[in-house]
Amino acid sequence: MPLTVFAWFFITFEVWVQVTGIQINYIKVPMAVKNDSKSAIVLDCDYSLRPDDTYLVVKWYLNDDLVYQWTPPQAPQSFGPLKNKVDLKYRASGDQNSMYRAMKIFNPTTEIAGEYKCFVSTFTDEDFSMKNMIVFVPESAMEITQTSYDHSVNFTCAATEVYPTPKLFMYKDFRDDHHNGKNRLQTVHWDISKTNGGRYNVYIVATERTANLKPGTLIGCELRIPGTGYVKIKSHLFYPVAFGNGGYPGLRHQILLSLFSFVSFFVL
Ligand SMILES: *[C@@H]1O[C@H](CO)[C@@H](O)[C@H](O)[C@H]1NC(C)=O
Ligand SMILES: *[C@@H]1O[C@H](CO)[C@@H](O)[C@H](O)[C@H]1NC(C)=O
Repeated sequence: MPLTVFAWFFITFEVWVQVTGIQINYIKVPMAVKNDSKSAIVLDCDYSLRPDDTYLVVKWYLNDDLVYQWTPPQAPQSFGPLKNKVDLKYRASGDQNSMYRAMKIFNPTTEIAGEYKCFVSTFTDEDFSMKNMIVFVPESAMEITQTSYDHSVNFTCAATEVYPTPKLFMYKDFRDDHHNGKNRLQTVHWDISKTNGGRYNVYIVATERTANLKPGTLIGCELRIPGTGYVKIKSHLFYPVAFGNGGYPGLRHQILLSLFSFVSFFVL
């Protein structure tokens, strides 16, 4: 009998904590933002408190470093990588218990990318929630070049000054408008290098047999920065002798041959 009473009490206590303790309802952190865009972002942390909760503390961590703290009724403060980068007057709500829960960050840059954790505690309870934020730099240039050989053509797609490391893919018979018209070209070589500014230069080489390339074939190159939704597409029309340092002996022969026939015809 005493055991049953104890078990009942224990279960009830558990339920009571879950229902009425401090609880983070959601945290809102942008998935990806452009570096140095000069526009502010808001990282929000919405929580519910019990009416009698005391000693509220709201903290934000970036990659496990404390970057923001609000202990009402004191004013909020920001630290470390976010020192002088947060609008400490920004109010997420009019409620005394959640007014300064959010961080409005001026002009986010790559130095403040990473895992954000909102940590809320009271005298009796605590809760936290985390989300990742990527700060990216779009490429400064991107181009496709072709080099023709006797029986094959190499297409090179190069992008410069991107951050973080992007992925490149090349396609044949490329149409921007519908994705089902894409034939992936085999990548035969790729390279990546880091610039002095910490960005990346990347290129890939894809090859295709000349026999499989009609003049006017559209070659597409797609750059993606994983985790950001950022996509850039460049396209290039294939013509046998348009670019390329190798020339296209086959076509040259053809032109010479027709010139020759023309001349022969004239003489006859
Ligand atoms: C992002 O922008 C800041 C400010 O202009 C700059 O210092 C930083 O190097 C940039 N990051 C990258 C990876 O280029
Ligand atoms: C094309 O590019 C690859 C990789 O860089 C290279 O090995 C090859 O010799 C190039 N030429 C042809 C004809 O494939």
